[in-house]
Amino acid sequence: MNARTPLIFGTTLVELIRARHPILLVETHEGNRVIAAAEAVAVSPDLRRPRKVVAYTVSKGLHSPGQSGKPTSPDTALNEAIKAPEPTIFVFFDLHHFLGSQGRPAEPTMVRAVQDAALAFRTGEVPHTLIIVSPGMTLPTDLEKEVTVVDLPLPTAGEIEGVLDEIVGANAASIVVDLSADDRQRLIQAAQGLTLGEAENAFARAIASDRRLDASDIALVLDEKRQTIRKSGLLEFIPAEGTMNDVGGLENLKKWLNKRNGSWLPEAQRWSIPAPKGVLITGVPGCGKSLTATCMATLWGLPLLRLDVGRVFSGLVGSSEQNMRGALKLAEAVSPSILWIDEIEKGFGSSGSGDSGTSQRVFGTFLTWMQEKKNPVFVIATANKIDSLPPEFLRKGRFDEIFFVDLPTKEERVHIWRIQLEKRLTTDSAASGDFETTEGSLELLAELTEGFSGAEIAEAAVSACFEAFSERRMLNEKDLRRAISNTVPLSVTQAEQIKGIRDWASTRAVAATSISAREEYSTTGAEASTDVNSWRGGRQIDF
Ligand SMILES: Nc1ncnc2c1ncn2[C@@H]1O[C@H](COP(=O)(O)OP(=O)(O)OP(=O)(O)O)[C@@H](O)[C@H]1O
Ligand SMILES: [Mg+2]
Repeated sequence: MNARTPLIFGTTLVELIRARHPILLVETHEGNRVIAAAEAVAVSPDLRRPRKVVAYTVSKGLHSPGQSGKPTSPDTALNEAIKAPEPTIFVFFDLHHFLGSQGRPAEPTMVRAVQDAALAFRTGEVPHTLIIVSPGMTLPTDLEKEVTVVDLPLPTAGEIEGVLDEIVGANAASIVVDLSADDRQRLIQAAQGLTLGEAENAFARAIASDRRLDASDIALVLDEKRQTIRKSGLLEFIPAEGTMNDVGGLENLKKWLNKRNGSWLPEAQRWSIPAPKGVLITGVPGCGKSLTATCMATLWGLPLLRLDVGRVFSGLVGSSEQNMRGALKLAEAVSPSILWIDEIEKGFGSSGSGDSGTSQRVFGTFLTWMQEKKNPVFVIATANKIDSLPPEFLRKGRFDEIFFVDLPTKEERVHIWRIQLEKRLTTDSAASGDFETTEGSLELLAELTEGFSGAEIAEAAVSACFEAFSERRMLNEKDLRRAISNTVPLSVTQAEQIKGIRDWASTRAVAATSISAREEYSTTGAEASTDVNSWRGGRQIDF
């Protein structure tokens, strides 16, 4: 086959066919790619005997791909298939309509016909394989043991290049192509994550707008991809806006992330380091977990995709497992990338939204992927209630590290105040009495806000600014003092919960705050536990 044949999928197919898995289910809209892959595998030297490829649709019955045929019912076709004298890969379309989908129950005769085929294909003298192609289906329980679900990865760069070449070739007479080799690579990369059909549409649209294909079309194709990803409803592209300078404190975490910057580049291979799997960030609400995740995109210069775990389970889009696989596939297709799973406990925790069986399976899908993913996708998971997460999740080796983000220490609050105020203050019209961000003034604010989270500091800064705005003047110290004294921080109202998560973290997670920034705090809770502000949680490691 040509560059359009999905290689990884091809390899898996060969292995499964060789091991005589009788029935494979491929969930995809891209049936043509499955046929192409089957045809490639059929003549693979890895199979002892070459295979024929026969397709089935309701309207054409059994037929050679690309040829015509007579309408037959699927059970008749399966019976014929069992009797086929030569080793064959049968690619069945339309079968899912009979096996229960969209609220309709499975037809018993059809389920039985598939079971019969499974038995015959596994143990019969002539080795056959049935590939069921379906855009999404729930397997009847009777078939669960017989069927192996196989993932058709999204098209590779090579396959997309094939589409691009075809389109350019077909329009050669009427368009101008002005792409350097580098632009061409970027254009192909921009389309990665789309199906071949979608890529073809995106390229066609880019050409149609001005009968030209040049570097300016990269943005068009990227935009198309963003929309496709948004439409999937599960992933969202987060634009790279903030930088790590917008995150106050958490130096230990930042250092750790910094050291892994670039680990996906080919040059990293010289150090023989494994691609980092990901990081789990947990801790006190409002202290910068999500903020850090959003700033990662800029730090590493990679696309950041946020996975909505709630929607994976919502049943709005497809089956939960299929949703999860789809999202992970997409993240891999745009790799190197960062996959951000915010509030992961909402999906996988014991209080999660999925029923326990489904949530277990989806969770299994995710863990297996974490272990086996071939392309560099860095996972950044954030969680508040970590004790509700299944223990497998936290086992050593799943995530590269688990960090604990605590209430900011005094040094960190200085930093956060500086960030929050400098964002809002312009100095050009400052008059006497106006607030100035000096070491001394920030130090004072930090002192006044012991026990505040970053979010509470940010809110106090905003409400002080409103105070000044309402009188159409610049901010002064009084506004800030007032906003601070009006705030009752979470550390007061939820002291017990904070102590609880610190206790949890003290053995299991590394402090995101650097050692030097928490010198004045105790790091063991037991003797100081009466005052939530006298100690900080998380193990002390300096990266
Ligand atoms: N370390 C920090 N540096 C600067 N700003 C911060 C910091 N922590 C929190 N903030 C401010 O508070 C806002 C909320 O923080 P963020 O969403 O990151 O909290 P979180 O830890 O994810 O909380 P939650 O557990 O509630 O999701 C941020 O957008 C930012 O304005
Ligand atoms: Mg958050």
